Amino acid sequence: MTTPRTHTAVAVVGARQPLEAIRVPTASPEADEILIRSQFTASTPLDLHRADGGLLQQPGDIFGSTTVGVKPRYRAHQEYVTAPEWMFGKIPENITAEEAATVPENLITVFNTMATDLGLPTRWPKPEGYVPSNADDPILVWGAGSSVGQFALQVLRWYGYRHVLATASPSHHEYLRGLGASACFDYRDADVAEKVLAAASEMAQHGNGGKGGSAVVPFIIDCIGSRNGSLGPILTKKIAQPSSVVAVMLPVILTHAGPDQAPEYAMDAPEVARSLLGPGAESSGVTVKGVRTFFVYENSPLFKAKLPSEIMPALLAQGVVTPQRFRIVEGGSILEREENALRQMREGGVSGVKLVWRTSDQ
Ligand SMILES: NC(=O)c1ccc[n+]([C@@H]2O[C@H](COP(=O)([O-])OP(=O)(O)OC[C@H]3O[C@@H](n4cnc5c(N)ncnc54)[C@H](OP(=O)(O)O)[C@@H]3O)[C@@H](O)[C@H]2O)c1
Repeated sequence: MTTPRTHTAVAVVGARQPLEAIRVPTASPEADEILIRSQFTASTPLDLHRADGGLLQQPGDIFGSTTVGVKPRYRAHQEYVTAPEWMFGKIPENITAEEAATVPENLITVFNTMATDLGLPTRWPKPEGYVPSNADDPILVWGAGSSVGQFALQVLRWYGYRHVLATASPSHHEYLRGLGASACFDYRDADVAEKVLAAASEMAQHGNGGKGGSAVVPFIIDCIGSRNGSLGPILTKKIAQPSSVVAVMLPVILTHAGPDQAPEYAMDAPEVARSLLGPGAESSGVTVKGVRTFFVYENSPLFKAKLPSEIMPALLAQGVVTPQRFRIVEGGSILEREENALRQMREGGVSGVKLVWRTSDQ
């Protein structure tokens, strides 16, 4: 590959401002880094949080989420990316480049959430016949139709958790059962909490009675992080009970981004929980944790050594994890494709699919 001197990247100018295509120097690899020419990337809600809410964003920053995108040269929405080799994994032969673009961010998020926030072991290699000690404890994946949720179901199933409950739009229920959900519920139902609790009690009775403490649902992953749409019902409708741990995807969304609406976010999940539960929050016995996958490699040397380079490719090659269904975002340039993807997310038209687009025009 002939390395160019400069290449095109998409950068943010300011919150809710049009993005810009800029030319940036193509960084020569140093130390353990390699330079790759990118083919496809995906847009994720984090891009919208950055573009419209200014979250974790300085003017001029290059766009695109990677799990450790602290340096502009590591970011995904550009033609060339220079980053340490251990951050990359080889795409297995059974997976296309477009499919591969749907996987890393949220598969990594799921491993980080399990290990760091829920305290569930993520043993690698998984021993033959492995059964986790909490195998019969009900686990709720709220928002399982999301990208995080779909990978959570698959990874939990693979590690041997038998009672994984999911909330999602009914149109996804059959698909999500295929990914590992034991039972699915519509999160828009007024009595969704009662239904989840009834199913979880039933499952725990038929399992070993649950080992996670007194809560009916000891482990909850809030894949959405919406104050009123997910964390609110989980806490105020008492799905989370004393000794439950709730891992919430940050940022907590206070107001959703819309075509004419600036979003509002909070990064302190326990504080949002206090605002929902009022004075009873301290005595609720519920632990609320904000997930920060940004720190995944600081949290775990195993993940740094193996997650992108070995665990992800192996799980894909073995069919343990299926890439997410995706929609290709078209556009005449890298900038147009990025803007079109953001618009689709802003308009709320993304349900169960990942938005994937070409980073290069050639
Ligand atoms: N902090 C971290 O480490 C971290 C890491 C990864 C992601 N995140 C955050 O996690 C969130 C989800 O990311 P993603 O990529 O998985 O999103 P996504 O795939 O774009 O999520 C879209 C899905 O969200 C579901 N949804 C929306 N509101 C819901 C609600 N109130 N209850 C249940 N489901 C709801 C919809 O489900 P239906 O189609 O079923 O209606 C839709 O399919 C984003 O805010 C992202 O920034 C944080």
